[in-house]
Amino acid sequence: MSTQDKIKKLTDLRAEAKLGGGLKRIDTQHSKGKYTARERIEMLLDEGSFEEYDMFVSHRCTNFGVDKKKFLGDGVVTGQGTIDGRVVYVFSQDFTVFGGSLSETYAQKICKVMDMALKNGAPIIGINDSGGARIQEGVTALAGYAEIFERNIMASGVVPQISAIFGPCAGGAVYSPALTDFVMMTKKTSYMFVTGPKVVKTVTGEVVTDEQLGGANIHGSKSGVSHFIVDDEKEGLLLTRKLISYLPQNNLEEPPIAPCDDPIDRLDANLNEIIPDNPNKPYDVKDVIHSIADYGEFLEVHRNYAQNIVVGYARFNGVAVGIVANQPNYLAGVLDINASRKAARFVRFCDAFNIPLVTLVDVPGFLPGTAQEYGGIISHGAKLLFAYGEATVPKITVIMRKSYGGAYCVMSSKHLRGDINYSWPTGEIAVMGPKGAIEVLQNKKIRAIEDEQERAEYIAKKEEEYKDKFANPYSAAQFGYIDDVIEPRNTRFRIIRALQALATKKDVMPPKKHTNIPL
Ligand code: HXC
Repeated sequence: MSTQDKIKKLTDLRAEAKLGGGLKRIDTQHSKGKYTARERIEMLLDEGSFEEYDMFVSHRCTNFGVDKKKFLGDGVVTGQGTIDGRVVYVFSQDFTVFGGSLSETYAQKICKVMDMALKNGAPIIGINDSGGARIQEGVTALAGYAEIFERNIMASGVVPQISAIFGPCAGGAVYSPALTDFVMMTKKTSYMFVTGPKVVKTVTGEVVTDEQLGGANIHGSKSGVSHFIVDDEKEGLLLTRKLISYLPQNNLEEPPIAPCDDPIDRLDANLNEIIPDNPNKPYDVKDVIHSIADYGEFLEVHRNYAQNIVVGYARFNGVAVGIVANQPNYLAGVLDINASRKAARFVRFCDAFNIPLVTLVDVPGFLPGTAQEYGGIISHGAKLLFAYGEATVPKITVIMRKSYGGAYCVMSSKHLRGDINYSWPTGEIAVMGPKGAIEVLQNKKIRAIEDEQERAEYIAKKEEEYKDKFANPYSAAQFGYIDDVIEPRNTRFRIIRALQALATKKDVMPPKKHTNIPL
């Protein structure tokens, strides 16, 4: 064979590999409103940056005659490229080949890029669209999944891992995305479940659709498995690029600093008006976030799940931070099981990847009641407490209004190694709100007053006394628990200055194998 023929063979093989399962199956993929594995990679990465590996791999299985059915690449496209010039490793499952199902060799391809990502300290992005373990392969496919899981675990806290779910993701296959840092799902075309509707019907008799059991809306709002819900794949891939822009390449680096010409001393007089005079009136904490962050930009994580707490990424003078904020607009910003789990995971991710934390506090406490107690609010609330307490990144706290009880301690207080703790003049720091406090302290006296009007007046008087004592930030400031009381309109500037002061912060945990966070 001449050199020219050899080169032609290479070109032909590449063309064959690029067709995956063939034109007909590509058309079917498109007809479902889905892109192919390679089209997705093209949209995700900087133009022309993709370096593909293992294009010529094919499976080794001989069961059920599949040795006669081989496709170059074997159902997954793997390689490396850049996002805004920064290296990322990618695998993209190809539904046109055996329904994207995972074989032994397919798993080896994924493991190879995961190993490379870990060695070179770069993020891993997995695009999932697969029928799960390739049935014909048997245990080698299961072993392949477990090899991937192990690498997900090794990479956890070392390089960021992002999973985009753009099709089916079922059975044990869901556990790889679940082990990663962020899961994103497309509406209508993706689903995740441990067992599908048919098995559910057989085992429990329950009749559900794919969408009801494990669609994007369910995992984005009810289970919390998915951090982002997107309308379509294009939106998802652009969002992935945006998310990456806030993250460092690995746990030994800092997030990139973005150029910023939003003035650091930009004041917002509206913030001085945002806290209503009536303490029971809500406001939207996202208005505060948009007001203080660079260009008002905020990338919210878990937007539809546990909306009583808001988490996400923003920048201050170009420095990426993780924001955790109680949301008075939803359940009065109370901390419950889901909010605690959501925020704890976010705080731990930020801490693992050197992303400073800015905490905005307006919290009436933990949600009381049997539903929460039976669900284990004690353990789940402790997760958030634990996450803040172990975090060694710069921690800046701004108490905007209520900061009551255990929730005061939890929300990045000075006592959990909070670095710079501010309060607005509207801060209220107390063991509990006035109503509850007077109920406990004055119970006997209140019951002894028979006249209703007299009783109401007595309660109001006592509540007023309590408010005078505690509905302010100064009793906490008196003990140094609050470093300064700041005007709301200055918040952006004060946070930026605090971040500058903390840029060289060094804090460590005592040596140990690992912590034992209350899971
Ligand atoms: C081999 C598979 C496959 C699989 C799909 N295909 N899943 N081949 N192993 N797991 C093949 C189909 O035979 C078909 O091939 C082609 O892919 C497209 O599949 P269709 O069924 O035609 O597509 P669609 O109607 O869109 O349905 C997609 C699907 C369905 C919902 C994913 O294929 C399905 O239910 N697959 C099985 C899912 C499953 O139960 N997987 C095992 C999960 S347990 P042809 O040639 O006919 O077109 C698991 C364990 C992991 O994964 C454990 C880890 C620890």
